[in-house]
Amino acid sequence: MGTAMQPGEFWSKGDYAAAGDRWAEASVRLAETYTRPGNEVLDLACGPGAFAIEAAEAGAKVTALDAAGALLDLARVRAENAGAAVEWIQADMTAVPADDAGFDVVASAFGCMFAPDPVAMATELVRLCRKGGRIAVLAWTPESAFGAMAPLAGRFLPNGGVSPVERWSRPENVAELFADLPVRLSFTVRTVDVVWDDLDAAVDEIVNGNPAWIMIRSAVEPTGRWEELRAGLRELFAVNGKTEEHRFVLPVDYLETLARKRLGPVDQLHGSAHSASARRGQQRDRGRVRRVAFACHRLEPALRQERSDPRQERRTQPPPAEAARHRDQAQARPRRI
Ligand SMILES: C[S@@+](CC[C@H](N)C(=O)[O-])C[C@H]1O[C@@H](n2cnc3c(N)ncnc32)[C@H](O)[C@@H]1O
Repeated sequence: MGTAMQPGEFWSKGDYAAAGDRWAEASVRLAETYTRPGNEVLDLACGPGAFAIEAAEAGAKVTALDAAGALLDLARVRAENAGAAVEWIQADMTAVPADDAGFDVVASAFGCMFAPDPVAMATELVRLCRKGGRIAVLAWTPESAFGAMAPLAGRFLPNGGVSPVERWSRPENVAELFADLPVRLSFTVRTVDVVWDDLDAAVDEIVNGNPAWIMIRSAVEPTGRWEELRAGLRELFAVNGKTEEHRFVLPVDYLETLARKRLGPVDQLHGSAHSASARRGQQRDRGRVRRVAFACHRLEPALRQERSDPRQERRTQPPPAEAARHRDQAQARPRRI
């Protein structure tokens, strides 16, 4: 869903956090999985700060960046209330004002998937990460209720809607973004249970609070088809969720991409602006495109092997105490793919 508006202005509209807090468990789990005390951690597109605050509370040195001042203000208050020390930066995630290789962990929960140039975004993530460090990115899978929202809305928008999100939500697409970058990739699909009082409360909160849906509504209402689209969204949630006693539960799958930056002696990156433009040039080069295809092809046997290895699944299960803590709010049903 493209917009000519600047990202900061766009994401300050409505009330992203009202619904976003309902899937904050995905960010919390990401921080628990990948950050350690003393790590230098960057949360890109931090929004209301769930990942950053969790990582800081666990003892990491956290920098969190977002374009939206309103969400950063909320994140600051939340961090202060939690006693978590985080350095907040208002900036564009596609050109981060930070030195190369300054972070042990670079993470983005449902954030960098909005970058208009996903290849340049992948390059920027790798530039920021230390050799041997980890990059972790979350994106809704295309088949999930949230992943299906953009194509649904696209059927009602004059230009069909433009969304780069799918580039981050399928392993083969992500592998293309990181092709030729010095990383080793692995993928896990997890599920977060998003809970509202009832189905209508879910639809109301999304269409009235989510900045993308506010924009969609203003574009579709003049066509006279808004109620049809709203009914389509309700149906999407209804078929993917379940009404239980006093609540509506929507299980939403997301892809967790983990990119480990190689320790190898050759680091092909020489600064974000240079490397981003160089990589765009490489993508246009036919030889490189063939190598991307080869890299994707080579990935498949490794993925199949992981899928059939039950130890891989066990490794991704949360410890029993943690699983018990989150049983009501959210469930992680990780599948290595
Ligand atoms: C779906 S929200 C995710 C927020 C948070 N990480 C979470 O999981 O709740 C997307 C976030 O990306 C941020 N964002 C989008 N484009 C951006 C850009 N170009 N630079 C910085 N932040 C951006 C928005 O402001 C918003 O906070």
